[in-house]
Amino acid sequence: MGTQLCIRRCRFSRIMAVMQIILGVFVILISVAGLHRFQLAGFFFPNEEDSSQRFHTIKEGYADFDLKALSDRVEDVVSQLSELQDKLDATIQKTDRDKKGGAAARNMTRSEFSRFVQEEVIQPLYSARIALGLIRIPKPDTAGFNPGSPVEDPLINFFTVEEIRKYITAKGNKNGKLSKYGTNKTYGTIGHACVLMRKELEEYMNYDIGSYCNDDWHLAQKLMLGGCDPLPRRRCLARASKLYQRPLPINESLWTMPDDRNVRWSRYRCRNFKCLSKKNPRRGFSRCTGCFDLEEEKLKWVTNASLADFLIGDVLAVKPGEIRIGLDASIGTGSFAARMREWNVTIVSTALNVGAPFSEVIALRGLIPLYATLGQRLPFFDNTMDLIHTSVFLDGWVDLQLLDFILFDWDRVLRPGGLLWVDKFFCSRKDLDEYMYMFLQFRYRKHKWVVSFKSKEEVYLSALLEKPPRSL
Ligand SMILES: *[C@@H]1O[C@H](CO)[C@@H](O)[C@H](O)[C@H]1NC(C)=O
Ligand SMILES: *[C@@H]1O[C@H](CO)[C@@H](O)[C@H](O)[C@H]1NC(C)=O
Ligand SMILES: *[C@@H]1O[C@H](CO)[C@@H](O)[C@H](O)[C@H]1NC(C)=O
Ligand SMILES: *[C@@H]1O[C@H](CO)[C@@H](O)[C@H](O)[C@H]1NC(C)=O
Ligand SMILES: *[C@@H]1O[C@H](CO)[C@@H](O)[C@H](O)[C@H]1NC(C)=O
Repeated sequence: MGTQLCIRRCRFSRIMAVMQIILGVFVILISVAGLHRFQLAGFFFPNEEDSSQRFHTIKEGYADFDLKALSDRVEDVVSQLSELQDKLDATIQKTDRDKKGGAAARNMTRSEFSRFVQEEVIQPLYSARIALGLIRIPKPDTAGFNPGSPVEDPLINFFTVEEIRKYITAKGNKNGKLSKYGTNKTYGTIGHACVLMRKELEEYMNYDIGSYCNDDWHLAQKLMLGGCDPLPRRRCLARASKLYQRPLPINESLWTMPDDRNVRWSRYRCRNFKCLSKKNPRRGFSRCTGCFDLEEEKLKWVTNASLADFLIGDVLAVKPGEIRIGLDASIGTGSFAARMREWNVTIVSTALNVGAPFSEVIALRGLIPLYATLGQRLPFFDNTMDLIHTSVFLDGWVDLQLLDFILFDWDRVLRPGGLLWVDKFFCSRKDLDEYMYMFLQFRYRKHKWVVSFKSKEEVYLSALLEKPPRSL
């Protein structure tokens, strides 16, 4: 009995000691890495004029880089880690004291031990890891670099609070490619980016009051995607298609392609719905290929093609009768909302008309399109939604800090006990850790969690997570 206790306890001490060593090394590495990066970026030039400025921007070849934010972040991580170390130190000392006197530590059961490691060690490490992931190392801005005229984001210096500056700074795409919406960067918007698009905005607002607007929805969309969002209201009449047909009754509309005549096609490569089929390489959009082929769409979420495909029935069974309203933050034609309607769940589907009339199709199917950009705070109140579903949306290209703001917004609108369904989020294998931590940081209850290979280089992450109660 005595030896058994000792084995358990001694192992505990040894684990603690090893952990401490690992942590120490970790802290040192981070400090060194931080210094190293500062030096690389050419920071150690004691320039009196510059150091008096609040916002340090690296001018030559490094756009949008905020030195103060970086050093704050590194300090943050280091202090989190040393706090953790202190705590572990204290625990070790306590255990040592208990060796002579009390028996408390000796009685630590396995479940107590795992809870201790989970709460006191793993969770602080998680947040340190995320804080590290959010550090934005300057990348040489070779493509857009223009000597002598550093790229200045609009109105950033108007604000002094760090968080709003972070929020409204444009986020470049993580992989350097164009986003799903064809943009290089995304503005978390408070409308400030309108100043960058003055010409377009003035063109947009140039109309005769009370008469027909120009046929310029694409100009409005360009402004929104450029961060000029929300757009001003206008006092002119939006144009509609020439021969608008009565929509189909709801029992037919959900799974029938709408009438071509109900869409204004002039700004698309296609001129009818048939042309938008996956089989046509010249359809004009590359996202959600096949989402205009409703026969294929019908198979989704009701037949399991792979491990990463969850079935609606299984998901709703997690909370029988509790899931009634939700948001589908995806790119598509509303098939998810159509399916969920059959389960008596009301889903609002985000839609932008990038390359195809997504909004019109969703509406003509009898579902609700939400015409909102990624830069925008969701127009729902806190703790209201039962479900947020997301697929083919943020995959792999999204900047980590932008994703962070988006996920916190989703967390805000989800109700306690609400479900976040991450549906085949994909990214390259090397990025998976970073993205996983973004989802895990909220410490939702994991009902399902599947990582599977999409290809040799890319992986899928599917998860069904439940927001915990927050009674603070
Ligand atoms: C440790 O366990 C023993 C029996 O298993 C119990 O009698 C004793 O009260 C426990 N001590 C503490 C501090 O929990
Ligand atoms: C994105 O950036 C590249 C080079 O940085 C530029 O050539 C291209 O025109 C940009 N595209 C958009 C849509 O701004
Ligand atoms: C749809 O409902 C209408 C009236 O309720 C009915 O006449 C029609 O046959 C239904 N269509 C289908 C395909 O079930
Ligand atoms: C889903 O796939 C699993 C195996 O991958 C199989 O056992 C199960 O029966 C399938 N369910 C449906 C509804 O097809
Ligand atoms: C949806 O609601 C209708 C009417 O209340 C009911 O008849 C039907 O069984 C419900 N469907 C599901 C899947 O719960």
